[in-house]
Amino acid sequence: MNTSKTNSYKIAVVPGDGIGREVMQATLDVLEHLNIDFEYVYGDAGDECLEKTGTALPGETLDIIRDADACLFGAAGETAADVIVKIRQEMKMFANLRPVKAYPNTNSLFDNIDFMIVRENTEGMYIADEESYTDDGAIARRIITKEAEKRIIDYAFKYAVENNKTKVTAVHKANVLKKTDGLFREIFYEVAKDYPDIATEDFYVDATAMYLITQPENFEVIVTTNLFGDILSDEGAGLVGGLGLIPSANIGEDGALFEPVHGSAPDIAGQNKANPIAMMLSAIMMLRYLGENKEADRFEASILKVLNDANTLTGDLGGSATTTELAGEVINNL
Ligand code: NAI
Ligand code: MG
Repeated sequence: MNTSKTNSYKIAVVPGDGIGREVMQATLDVLEHLNIDFEYVYGDAGDECLEKTGTALPGETLDIIRDADACLFGAAGETAADVIVKIRQEMKMFANLRPVKAYPNTNSLFDNIDFMIVRENTEGMYIADEESYTDDGAIARRIITKEAEKRIIDYAFKYAVENNKTKVTAVHKANVLKKTDGLFREIFYEVAKDYPDIATEDFYVDATAMYLITQPENFEVIVTTNLFGDILSDEGAGLVGGLGLIPSANIGEDGALFEPVHGSAPDIAGQNKANPIAMMLSAIMMLRYLGENKEADRFEASILKVLNDANTLTGDLGGSATTTELAGEVINNL
């Protein structure tokens, strides 16, 4: 289309249900204006897909995701667990990235927050290997393997290097879970030797839960196991306020998927009211994953200007603009 566009990528687009579709369209409208060529291949998934085809996640959609350079995912409704959890497993997406960043004119509790949580996505407590109840109670096993933890810790250090971060913090509970989290901490300092320019520290998870509130500016990159990462990233979301602003990434060896943290929001679906920024910030994470940092910066600066100007904010941010109007303003700012 535009001959000056240099790089070209095949992107799997899975809008899903409800506001997933609206925020996806708004985001694609902005991507159209960047200096990059995208070929979109649409995949069906979610509640409506289940009604139409009898399955919430057709094999064809998985093939589309597998075949693409990256995937943009909107939101599913009641079938979310069957859709997004299954995609993560099928695609072996081992790293879950949740940035915690304060933007202006939001409900962020502090101004100076900007860190990344790198969460192990495949093992730990969430293998959900629970033995059935006995008369005495119930048992769950927690698995920590050298291979998976080394992979996530190495990913966190690489992320730090590539994003000009100076420190990685390991979070664990090795004082109580001496074997599993003792091993995690040991591997952390082993991997750290390969990154002599990155500072390191490690904290217990309970202390970290407090530090996130008392000294959030201390953190740059946090790496942690599955359950702790899940809890701390929701605490992080609370710190910066508002589901409409929070993106995420799932990275694997065979592919990567970028999605807002929010769901299909049936209460506002179909009304052109949803805040598309979480989806847009997810697309920006995708651009950085693809190495398109310059265009990512330009896109992010345009969103920042929308937030700073505060003339075109959606209802969740106290404004009265529509999804489409906010997207239009982002495009104007490019
Ligand atoms: P939700 O995230 O859809 O909505 C929670 C509240 O936040 C609602 O009041 C909604 O209007 C508001 N909200 C969410 N995103 C917003 C945005 N971009 N702009 C403005 N307001 C926004 O979570 P809820 O209500 O618990 O779940 C609704 C459906 O979404 C359920 O069927 C659930 O299974 C599904 N879900 C899907 C997820 C996924 O696909 N990854 C994640 C979470 C929920
Ligand atoms: Mg969670």
